[in-house]
Amino acid sequence: MKLEAEKYISHPVFKVIGACADEMNISCYVIGGFVRDSIMGRQSSDIDVVAIGSGVELACAVAKKLHVEVAVFKSFGTAMLKYHGVEVEFVGARKESYRTDSRKPIVEDGTLEDDQNRRDFTINAMAIGLDAKNYGILLDPFHGLEDIKNKIIRTPLDPDITFSDDPLRMMRAIRFSTQLRFMIEEETLQSITRQASRIDIISKERIAEELNKIILSNVPSRGFMLLDKTGLLPLVFPEFSKLKGIDVVEGRAHKDNFYHTLQVLDNICNGTDDLWLRWAAVLHDIAKPTTKKYEPGHGWTFYQHEFIGAKMIPGIFQKMKLPLNEKMKYVQKLVSLHLRPIILAEEIVTDSAVRRLLFDAGDDIDDLMLLCEADITSKNSEKVKKYMRNFEVVRQKLKEIEEKDKLRNWQPPISGELIMETFDIKPSKVVGDIKNAIREAILEGEIQNNYEEAFEFMLKVGQDLGLKIW
Ligand code: CTP
Repeated sequence: MKLEAEKYISHPVFKVIGACADEMNISCYVIGGFVRDSIMGRQSSDIDVVAIGSGVELACAVAKKLHVEVAVFKSFGTAMLKYHGVEVEFVGARKESYRTDSRKPIVEDGTLEDDQNRRDFTINAMAIGLDAKNYGILLDPFHGLEDIKNKIIRTPLDPDITFSDDPLRMMRAIRFSTQLRFMIEEETLQSITRQASRIDIISKERIAEELNKIILSNVPSRGFMLLDKTGLLPLVFPEFSKLKGIDVVEGRAHKDNFYHTLQVLDNICNGTDDLWLRWAAVLHDIAKPTTKKYEPGHGWTFYQHEFIGAKMIPGIFQKMKLPLNEKMKYVQKLVSLHLRPIILAEEIVTDSAVRRLLFDAGDDIDDLMLLCEADITSKNSEKVKKYMRNFEVVRQKLKEIEEKDKLRNWQPPISGELIMETFDIKPSKVVGDIKNAIREAILEGEIQNNYEEAFEFMLKVGQDLGLKIW
């Protein structure tokens, strides 16, 4: 495999690493994700180098030769440097074994083979030699190349051992299967199903990282289906798992919100790469199980699921260790507004309804429209066509009204101070009432969104309330 593999190590850093290893009289290899991605023709700037000896000493020698800084992580026995657009991490070959009750491995120095044995998947265990003796040779003891060709995720050892060494790998298997569109080999899949409950020793942050990578894939539904099939979903994201299922009363069934949500998620991925907009799709119907009710004669209802769903989001984000910042607020806002454009598109699209939508959504209006379009999953093509046509009308109106009224980031044209000054009143409820009346008049189209008309209107409202102008 010598000539074949040489082409993957054309980056100038590899020659220098090889030369340093030769000077130190040790072997070293590039291993893992970089090798996998290079073979698959995917861009990768993260390089892992394993030395049969001290990874830190090798890194220091390479950094000296390249005149770059090196960061040494003593307690991990690793070191990292950056050079010409790549990040290289160095480590000594290791032999690791794990206790059943802890993620902390017992680590000893090992051979390349030991190091390859302890890796997660065959496609991640391939190494290419960098020192003169091994230069350009692909070492692939578990036939990772073959598995890439056949699009298979498989553990190098007995999967029960590989997953019990590090249960996060169960999530990684599903993540790689989703990202690369590979099948998880049957034994490996069964082992995940058997050991799913072991995920509880893994930190929420690491689980969220994998979940985010699934959500950022081209077709994330694949990952969620696998999480469901293996029993991991109720453990890592129980609220999502609860969307599953159909109830039938008086012969009337509601749709399965699990599959509906997955379709919405896949749909939105055609329109955006933004993680948080994708999360809004994941969560848009999250309160449907709690709000579900059968009303005789009427059918299934999910009253207020958009508001209750928005209220559930901080709790879900906190539990999953997702950020509790403006990203969360953005997801909440989209979830709470997700029915608005649909309701609009069902009726005659009035200017004032469009103004109110613009006012409430602000700069997130385009994202909200994407979410709503993705939410149309009806199998009735006539219905879909009708919605899409109406959405076009809504979009057109949104554009016209925004050009005219500038409501996207609306600031009240009349301040509370001006109201108090004009009528010589102290801060009080009446000031708020006047401000609200002005806003309502603008949204209803009674007056234009400008200072002059708003001022006139304020005088009129004040007089109606019996206030004197000063
Ligand atoms: N690895 C492992 N078990 C883990 C994590 C990582 O065996 N739980 C090994 C794999 O050999 C992997 C390498 O460490 O290829 C590097 O890990 P990482 O950088 O997390 O993943 P990549 O495979 O590089 O993929 P990605 O960058 O997409 O996460």
